[in-house]
Formats: sequence, structure tokens, C-alpha cells
Amino acid sequence: MDKVIVISGAGRGLGFSLVKQYIQLQDTIYAFDYQISNELKALGESYKKLKYYNCDISKDNDVIESTGEILEAGKKVDTIYNVAGFYSKEDLVSIAKTNLDLCIQMYNINALGALRISKSLWPLLQKGSVVVNISSEAGSIGAARRKGEYGYCMSKSAMNMFAKLLSNELWDIGGRVINFHPGWLRTVMGGEAALKSDKSVSPDESAANIVNIVLNIDNIPRDQMYMTHTGELLSW
Ligand SMILES: NC(=O)c1ccc[n+]([C@@H]2O[C@H](COP(=O)([O-])OP(=O)(O)OC[C@H]3O[C@@H](n4cnc5c(N)ncnc54)[C@H](OP(=O)(O)O)[C@@H]3O)[C@@H](O)[C@H]2O)c1
Repeated sequence: MDKVIVISGAGRGLGFSLVKQYIQLQDTIYAFDYQISNELKALGESYKKLKYYNCDISKDNDVIESTGEILEAGKKVDTIYNVAGFYSKEDLVSIAKTNLDLCIQMYNINALGALRISKSLWPLLQKGSVVVNISSEAGSIGAARRKGEYGYCMSKSAMNMFAKLLSNELWDIGGRVINFHPGWLRTVMGGEAALKSDKSVSPDESAANIVNIVLNIDNIPRDQMYMTHTGELLSW
């Protein structure tokens, strides 16, 4: 197969694991990250169909520049993985201490970042294209239990709304959108505690589960578009 796959947040964590999955599938991969990690560079040395770009997804110009080569190539984009995300422990406070500047930063990266990339690549989304957003259970309004973390939770709820709106548009041309909670990941964002807990999941395992669902998306009804990496449905 030579599908065209675009992955943000590809330098480490879940995004990096997704890159490895698609190398196994021998697809063409456009990988974006804020800073290109040595690990991603090393993969690019050995796998020539992996191209990587420095891209801050909170900036319009960065996204326009980074997607330029893909648009020039003009090939259908099969799958976009909006993975890049930002979380800060500073957000782990109740309303009185909530930092609005931090909320704006999270909204800009977590919600608008996915919108920016998808908007830029919209001309290449066609029949069979899939946009995958790595959201979080934290974005579920139906299951909201926290009394704080306004910035992160609200940014992921906004990402969920983005998914629904895009799905309404993309369906008309034969494309799909799906959002995942990837589990509590053993990554930088997952934190030290995730490394020690048996409730957490490795990014490689989560990525493998997600790719398996995405490759079989035709078997999933259109309205089932927010789920865990193991396919358990979540309430919007
Ligand atoms: N970790 C969890 O337990 C958990 C749970 C639920 C949902 N999620 C979601 O899953 C996704 C992946 O999480 P992860 O644990 O793999 O996170 P991670 O290890 O912290 O990696 C985040 C990635 O996003 C990139 N990034 C951050 N801000 C960016 C920006 N402005 N522009 C471009 N790239 C940016 C980072 O780039 P640099 O390396 O250059 O900083 C990094 O590659 C995130 O969207 C997260 O919200 C994670």
C-alpha cells in the first residue's frame, strides 16, 4: 500500500508510535512536530518515505508552510492524525486559580491546531479519507467529573465539536472523522505515575489499537466517532 498519512506530534509519545505503525505498512508519512526529535530524524534516515517538518501547530504560517509540499504533490491524503497536544499541571486547579492565558494556549494548540491542519489539507481530503483526532476522555461533557482543569478539558471538548462539524462536511464527499481517547499513556504527558501504574498503556500498544480501528473504519457506523483506543464508545 502507498497511502499518504499526515501525523502531528510525531516526534515523541503516541505520534511517534503512529509513525512506526505506518512505516510497517510502507506508507508515505508526513510528520509534523514542534521540535524534530533525534528518534524521528533517525527513522527518516532509514525510511525514505518519511518526511518531517518543524511545525508549531498553534501558528497559521507554520502550518501553511509545512503542508505546502503535500499540497504541491497533490495526492489524496488518506489519513490525518491530529495528535499534537499540550497539557500543563498548572491547569490542575479550580476556577479561582485558573490561568486564562494558559487556557488560550491549550485551546490554540489542542483545538485550533487540528482545525488548522485539516483546513490546510482540505483540498486533498477525498472519498475514503479519514481524519483522526486524538482527543481525551477529558473532553467528554457527558462524563465530566473533574472540578478543575478548565483549559485542557474545554480544549478537548472543542476538538470534539470540531470533529463533528468536519464529519458533517466530509461525509458528503465520502470521508470520515473519528476521535479517540488513547488511554493513560506512558509518555511525557502521562507523567511519572503512568510509568509505574498498571492502569496505563504504552504508546505503541495504543497506536496499534487505534490504527487497527482506523483501517477498519468502514465497519463502524457513522455516528460512532468518539471512543477509547480499544473501541469502547464515549459520551460526547
Ligand atoms: N498522555 C496521556 O495520558 C493522554 C491522555 C489522553 C489524551 N492524550 C492526548 O494524546 C495526544 C498525545 O499525547 P502524548 O502523551 O503522546 O503527549 P507527549 O508525549 O507530551 O507528546 C506531545 C507531542 O505534541 C507535540 N506538540 C506540543 N505542542 C505542539 C505545538 N504547538 N506544535 C506542534 N507540536 C506540538 C510535542 O512536540 P515537542 O516534543 O516538540 O514538544 C510532542 O511531540 C495529545 O493530544 C494528548 O492530549 C494523552
